[in-house]
Amino acid sequence: MVCGEPIDLRPAGLQDAALLLLWRNDPLTRRFSINDAVVGWDEHIAWLEASLAMETRQLLVAVRGRPVGLVRIDRDEATEMSWTVAPDARGQGVGRSMLAAALPIRGRIVARIKSDNVASRRLASRVGFALLEPGPLERWELVRPIPDQPPASSPSG
Ligand SMILES: CC(C)(COP(=O)(O)OP(=O)(O)OC[C@H]1O[C@@H](n2cnc3c(N)ncnc32)[C@H](O)[C@@H]1OP(=O)(O)O)[C@@H](O)C(=O)NCCC(=O)NCCS
Repeated sequence: MVCGEPIDLRPAGLQDAALLLLWRNDPLTRRFSINDAVVGWDEHIAWLEASLAMETRQLLVAVRGRPVGLVRIDRDEATEMSWTVAPDARGQGVGRSMLAAALPIRGRIVARIKSDNVASRRLASRVGFALLEPGPLERWELVRPIPDQPPASSPSG
């Protein structure tokens, strides 16, 4: 059980490749990704190596006893954030805690969310994003300081 433990963020590395590919190819992740194609191993490794070498990109693995999520941060004129929670850790507050840990970041912070992604829209609004541009692929922007991390549900989880 993962509830009740604090969340840490650490930079992703090549050792995370297999887990990140598993999360990337999860059907729900794909359904709500801008590119919904299944990604193969070689393509994934090339993407991960390139991402790790980019000065403008940060990949942060959320750890709650074990890796439970990924936050991607791309710095451009605005900073774009995207997120995924491990399929077996969803609906337990991981998304909220890991975004609370990843923020605040200076400057404009935006996110793109498919309009039928109820969980991600709710998560975004919980941590201080507001809908900026409606449409099938919505643009959200952080408009207020994020609230404190939610209290642990119980010491024993
Ligand atoms: C979207 C996602 C990151 C949410 O992470 P999570 O850890 O499950 O979310 P949390 O448990 O922190 O919950 C955040 C909010 O979403 C709500 N929520 C979570 N799962 C939900 C679901 N399946 N349906 C509706 N609401 C849901 C929670 O109730 C909570 O809202 P509340 O504070 O008002 O109660 C996760 O479901 C996921 O990885 N989905 C697949 C990939 C994806 O969609 N990535 C985002 C692309 S923009």
